[in-house]
Amino acid sequence: MHVIGGSASTSLAERISRELEDSPFSIPYRKRFPDGELYVRIGGKLEAEEAVLVQSTRSDEDLIELLLLEDAIREAGARRLFVVVPYFGYARQDRSFFPGEPISARALARHIGLEADSVITVDLHSPFNRDAFEKPLYEASGVPAIARLLRERPVDLLVSPDKGGVDRVKNMSKILGKPWMALDKRRLDSEHVELAAPANAPEVKGKHVVLVDDLISTGGTIVESAKLLRAMHAESVVASCTHGLFLKDAFERIKSVVDDVLCTDTLENPARRASVAPDIAAILRTELARR
Ligand code: R5P
Repeated sequence: MHVIGGSASTSLAERISRELEDSPFSIPYRKRFPDGELYVRIGGKLEAEEAVLVQSTRSDEDLIELLLLEDAIREAGARRLFVVVPYFGYARQDRSFFPGEPISARALARHIGLEADSVITVDLHSPFNRDAFEKPLYEASGVPAIARLLRERPVDLLVSPDKGGVDRVKNMSKILGKPWMALDKRRLDSEHVELAAPANAPEVKGKHVVLVDDLISTGGTIVESAKLLRAMHAESVVASCTHGLFLKDAFERIKSVVDDVLCTDTLENPARRASVAPDIAAILRTELARR
């Protein structure tokens, strides 16, 4: 199985190749044509080989690179192509909210799936996204990776910033054997939220609390959650998430109100301390066994 790392996911792709008993790993050549168009080239033939392409689609540029690489891999003769999209962008436009809008997640899922035999991703933003894929889709969770890190630390209480994250925080609670709660979140606009503790909230005072979320984008959710937990006299507050986008100054704002920030390596950022490589490799091994 040959692992190819797109420019948005090079280090994760290398980790996946190591997990797969040191499968061959390569980084494609990439340049810009004078008119700005992207050029990519993979190294050599892949005739009758199985290929794994790893590329998060944080930006439109990442997406174009992914589509070009899929085509190049097919052109090189790969027998099967597993496309790993650790962070699947555009996932939040998962339905048409107003007339005239596209279902962006579906549009991308269809195009990414065109050349793929199957698609593997991590913590899709919503269940709607799963139906958008026409090819077999496998979804890893970022929770075990974060849990592997949290095992080394004091943790008394796990907190989801909103009710939408209940399954995730329950999953973490099951792995670590710690209690959990979900805050009440009201979104005011794309950058601001209001948070409140639920009526039956457990004691927070003196506790080591870990916030568990799928995504940190503007940081508004985590900052307000951390402030609330501090106001409830938590001993420490750690922020954790699968996908750390950290738009603008989000990372600095979060660091100023929490004790630590832990993310997985689905995206390149200063907090990516937990790797989803073992979880993705486990899915790939199962897929391989199906040959
Ligand atoms: C909400 O549904 C998600 O789980 C995240 O809490 C949210 O997307 C984070 O966004 P931001 O960092 O902009 O508050």
